[in-house]
Amino acid sequence: MKQEIAFIQSEELKVKPKADSLGFGKYYSDYMFVMDYHSEKGWYEPRITPYEQLILDPAAMVFHYGQAIFEGLKAYKTADGTIQLFRPEKNMKRFNESCDRLCIPQIDENFLLKAIKELILIEKDWIPEGDGTSLYIRPFIFATEPYLGVRPSHQYKLLVILSPVGAYYGDQLSPVKIYVEEQYVRAVIGGVGHVKTAGNYAASMKAQEVAEAKGFAQILWLDAKENKYVEEVGSMNIFFKIKGEVVTPKLNGSILSGVTRDSVIQLLKHWNIPVREEKISIEEVFAAHERGDLEEVFGSGTAAVISPVGELNWNDRSIEINHQKIGQLSQRVYDEITGIQLGKKEDPFNWIIKVAQV
Ligand code: COI
Repeated sequence: MKQEIAFIQSEELKVKPKADSLGFGKYYSDYMFVMDYHSEKGWYEPRITPYEQLILDPAAMVFHYGQAIFEGLKAYKTADGTIQLFRPEKNMKRFNESCDRLCIPQIDENFLLKAIKELILIEKDWIPEGDGTSLYIRPFIFATEPYLGVRPSHQYKLLVILSPVGAYYGDQLSPVKIYVEEQYVRAVIGGVGHVKTAGNYAASMKAQEVAEAKGFAQILWLDAKENKYVEEVGSMNIFFKIKGEVVTPKLNGSILSGVTRDSVIQLLKHWNIPVREEKISIEEVFAAHERGDLEEVFGSGTAAVISPVGELNWNDRSIEINHQKIGQLSQRVYDEITGIQLGKKEDPFNWIIKVAQV
């Protein structure tokens, strides 16, 4: 895609929030990237505009049939003022996989990455610098054609918005309590669980609400067919350290292929720590705990980074993991990944893409 990205200047800029009040996804920067699609024109009019409300037709297909997908990645500012991204090409690729599954036209991955870099440069002062903070980048696409028949839309909007964020769960490294869900399911093989559709998250909310009312931070989903094998947590992939070896559920077509998940696996291999991607049942996890072999459990995700799990509740049985404290390996993985993201540690994998030095 060779198109120039237009820039429309904002008349007024917002007051930026303080780094210690960020939380997750509460504030939005001054500008956003927008691009439209029409089946007769392809993607057109890429532009960076002031962050503003959208006007949509009530018959826009996204409201009725849910063609909506998104991505999540982050920009970081290092101590020497370098602005950098972590493996953004993986997000671009997965974005297109989500497009494909929901019959949304493909995007030019290089062009979108270029647009994101331009947006970040304009918004560089929105990248927070406090500990554990970053600028969350949310690209998303939805169907805009006004039409009520069920078929893929002929028109779409792609936007990228930016949000300065801190930890996803209150305190980044405080272990979270997780409820193993037995009644509801998240995704089935052949469905859309392996891609980032808005509907996956809509379908998860009922169970999440019930779990929260019982005092849990998140749901651990089991496979939809046998209600037996561990899949993923609401906003992250999951890892178990059992007797010195790390196990994470194998990607099976209903589990999201997380960028942080892949990074954790590569890191563990690099450190010669045994790591296996395989089917693991919740019974095996509880049995490992019974034997005293379940050493650590942690989740991984762009928003969540590395989030230790302190308690799992399944079938009215609760197990406590590592005395509700972050485990050594979880801490090491967290330190390494955030160290690479913030330019404090070497990047032997070439994961970092530098955007600019400011
Ligand atoms: C992310 O980790 O970026 C996600 O997309 C999870 C999100 C639902 C908060």
